[in-house]
Amino acid sequence: MERFEQADALKRLPEQFFAKLVRKVGRAVEAGHDVINLGQGSPDQPTPPHIVKELQEAASNPKYHKYPPFHGFSFLKEAVSQFYDREYGVRLDPEKEVAVLFGGKTGLVEISQCYLNPGDVALVPDPGYPDYWSGIAMAGGRMYMMPLLKENGFLPDYGQIDPESADRAKLMFLNYPNNPTGALAHAAFFEETVRFAKRHHVLVVHDFAYSAIGFDGQKPRSFLQTPGAKDVGVEIYTMSKTYNMAGWRIAFAVGHEEVIRSVNLIQDHFYCSLFGGIQQAAAKALLGPQDCVRELVGMYERRRNLFIRHLREIGWKVEAPQGSFFCWFPVPEGYDSETFSDLLIEKAHVAVAPGVGFGRQGDRYVRVGLLTPEERLQEAAYRIGRLGIF
Ligand SMILES: Cc1ncc(COP(=O)(O)O)c(C=O)c1O
Repeated sequence: MERFEQADALKRLPEQFFAKLVRKVGRAVEAGHDVINLGQGSPDQPTPPHIVKELQEAASNPKYHKYPPFHGFSFLKEAVSQFYDREYGVRLDPEKEVAVLFGGKTGLVEISQCYLNPGDVALVPDPGYPDYWSGIAMAGGRMYMMPLLKENGFLPDYGQIDPESADRAKLMFLNYPNNPTGALAHAAFFEETVRFAKRHHVLVVHDFAYSAIGFDGQKPRSFLQTPGAKDVGVEIYTMSKTYNMAGWRIAFAVGHEEVIRSVNLIQDHFYCSLFGGIQQAAAKALLGPQDCVRELVGMYERRRNLFIRHLREIGWKVEAPQGSFFCWFPVPEGYDSETFSDLLIEKAHVAVAPGVGFGRQGDRYVRVGLLTPEERLQEAAYRIGRLGIF
C-alpha cells in the first residue's frame, strides 16, 4: 500500500482525550461489570414525538428530495429569528444574522478556519469544551488559556490576561451555561466581555449549547441580550440539548452580520444545506409547544438534587451546578482527575470524565453527567460511598 502524507492541518489535531475513557468503560463492561457511565455528554431522552412526527411527514415531501438551498430554507431562519425574539427579546435579521449549521461542533470548528491564520491567538476557557482546540489547531492558531476558577464563579478574569496577548487575540470562545463546570454567566459579565472585546478588537464566539438548562428558576442569558454584543460576536445555538436532537445534527450561528457571511461562505464550499425535512422539524421544535423543554429541565433538576443530596450524605463535599447537565466535583486529596476516575471505574464501576481532559485547570475535578435515571445516580452514589474515601 502506498503511504500518503497527511496534511499538516490534520497532524496538528489534538488527541481525542475521551477515546481513552470509552476504552476503559468498554474493558470494564467486557469484564462483566455493570458500569454506570456518567462520563459522557449525550442526552439520554428521545426527541419529543411532535418533532419526530414533523420529520416523518416532511420526509415524503418531494421538495426536500432535491438539493436544499445553500444557506438553508428561509422558513427555518425566520423561525430562529422568532425564537430569539420570544425567548430573549433579541431581534435577528433572518437572512443576514442567522446561519444554519450541521451541529454546533461544526460551527465552532469552522469559525476558527474563517478567522485564524497560522500563529494567530485565540482566547480559550480552561477548563473548556475540547472542540475549540480542534478548530484552532486545524487553522494553525495558538491558544491563550483563560483559567476558570471557582473563586471567580468559573468566569474568566479579563484583568489577568496580559494586554499584549489580549491585543494579539483575534477570537475568544465562551460557553455559559458552562461545560464542564455547570456555571452560569450574569449580565454584568457579558457587559464586561463586550467592553473587553471592543477594547482589544476580539471576536467573541459564545457557545450557548446548554441555553435551556438553568436550575432554581434561573433562565440562562443569551450573549446577544447584551448591548453591543452583535457588534463583537456571534452565538452558537444547538438543537442537541434543548430538544434532545443530538443525533439530528442541527444548530445555528446568530449575530454579527459579517461573521455570519463568513460562516455561510465556508459552508458554501463544504456543503449544500441540511436535509429539508430536518429543517422543517427544527422549525417545528422552535415554534411549537415548549412544555417538553420545561419537563426536561425539571427532570435534570430532580436528578441533580437527588444526586447532590446522596453525595453529601456519603461525605463528598460537592456543589450543585446552576445549569447545563454536568456536575463538576473536586477530587479528594491524594488523587488527580485521572487517578480518581480510574479508581471509580475499577472499584465502583462508575465512569466519570477526568477534568484534565478539559484543560490543565480541570485536573482537580471530575465531570459527572446527569444523563441517567435517578435510581442509577443513587446507585452510583452508594457505590462511591462504599469505597470509604470521604
Ligand atoms: C459546550 C458544548 N458545545 C458544543 C457542543 C456540540 O453540540 P452539537 O454539535 O451537538 O450541536 C457540545 C456537545 O456536547 C458542548 O458540550
